[in-house]
Amino acid sequence: MTRVLKSSADSFKRAVDILRAGGLVALPTETVYGLAADAANDDAVKKIYAAKGRPTHNPLIAHIFDPKDAEKFVDISPLAQQLMDVFWPGPLTLVLPKTSEDISLAAGAGLDTLAVRCPKAKWAKAFLKLGFRGPIVMPSANRSGHVSPTTAQHVLDDLGKTIDMIIDDGECPNGIESTVLKIEGDKAILLRPGAIPTEDFIPYISDLRLAKTTAQPSAPGMLQSHYSPNASVRLNALEKRPYESYLAFGPTDVKSDFNLSLKGDLAEAARNLYSALRALDTVDTIAIAPIPRTGLGAAINDRLKRAAADKGT
Ligand code: TXA
Ligand code: MG
Repeated sequence: MTRVLKSSADSFKRAVDILRAGGLVALPTETVYGLAADAANDDAVKKIYAAKGRPTHNPLIAHIFDPKDAEKFVDISPLAQQLMDVFWPGPLTLVLPKTSEDISLAAGAGLDTLAVRCPKAKWAKAFLKLGFRGPIVMPSANRSGHVSPTTAQHVLDDLGKTIDMIIDDGECPNGIESTVLKIEGDKAILLRPGAIPTEDFIPYISDLRLAKTTAQPSAPGMLQSHYSPNASVRLNALEKRPYESYLAFGPTDVKSDFNLSLKGDLAEAARNLYSALRALDTVDTIAIAPIPRTGLGAAINDRLKRAAADKGT
C-alpha cells in the first residue's frame, strides 16, 4: 500500500525511516516529484529501476541536502564550484567526475561520472536535522518514458502500489526538470535544457556547448522518445482538427481544450505542461500551439519534441 502524507515534520521523519530501511519514497521538489532511495543501498536502488520500468543503462542523479557535501562524491573544478555557489540549492544538475565508491554501482550505468543536484525543498533541511545526510538517488517519479509528475496524484497514478510512501506538497513550482550540465574543466555541455534557462549561464560559462540528441541509449537521458503521453502529439499546430485536443499558449481564436498560459507566460506554461499533457491524454492526438524557444521555452520545446517522437513500438 502506498501511503500519501502531507508534507510535515512527522511525514519527513517517516520518510527518513523508510529510506534508511531501504524503501522508496516519492518527494516533491521545486522541479517535479522524484522517487527517492538511499544512494548507498544497492537493493533500494534496484527497486527504483523495477518500480519505474527504467532501463538500467540510464543513470540516476545523486541528490545532496547541503551543497558542501558535493566534494565527498565528485571532483569539483573551479567552474563547477562557481555554478554550485550561484545556483544551489536549486534546479541545476551537474555531471562531474565521480570520486566516491559510496554510491551504489546500480545507479551509475557503468559511467565514471556522477550527476549531482542539491534541490530546494523543505524536507532537505529536515532530513539533515534528523541526522540523515543522504545522498539519495531520485529520478522523476513516473513510469519510465512517461510524462514527469508535478502532483502527488500523478505519482499515485503512475507508481501507486509499487512504492512505500508519497509526500504531498501540492504542485511543483517549476513543473519542469532540472537543467543538466556536464562540466569538463572550464567547458560545459548542456545535456538537458530545464528549469534554469540556458541564457542564465552566460555570465558564468565562456564555453557552453549543446549536446546532440541521439537515439543511442549510450547517451543517457537524450533518448528521442521520452516524456510521452499515450496520445500522438502534433506540434506547432495552428488549428484544431477533428478528434484532436488543442493545447494553446497565449491569446488565441482556436477553440482550446486547455491554455498553458493565457497571458503567454513561459514560467506558467512550464508549470502547467505535464498536468495538461496528462489531462488531455484521452484522445488520439494532442495538437499543441507553437511555443517561443527563448528562456524556459527551450526546455518546453525540448520536452514537446520528445513527446512527439516516434516511440518505435
Ligand atoms: O529535476 C530533476 O532533475 C528531477 C528531480 C526529481 O530532481 N529528477 C530527474 O531525474 O529528472 P531523471 O532520472 O528523471 O532524469 C535525470 C537525467 C536522465 O536523463 C539521466 O540520463 C541523466 O539525468 N543523467 C544522470 N546521470 C548522468 C550522468 N552521469 N551522465 C549523463 N547524464 C546523466
Ligand atoms: Mg525522468
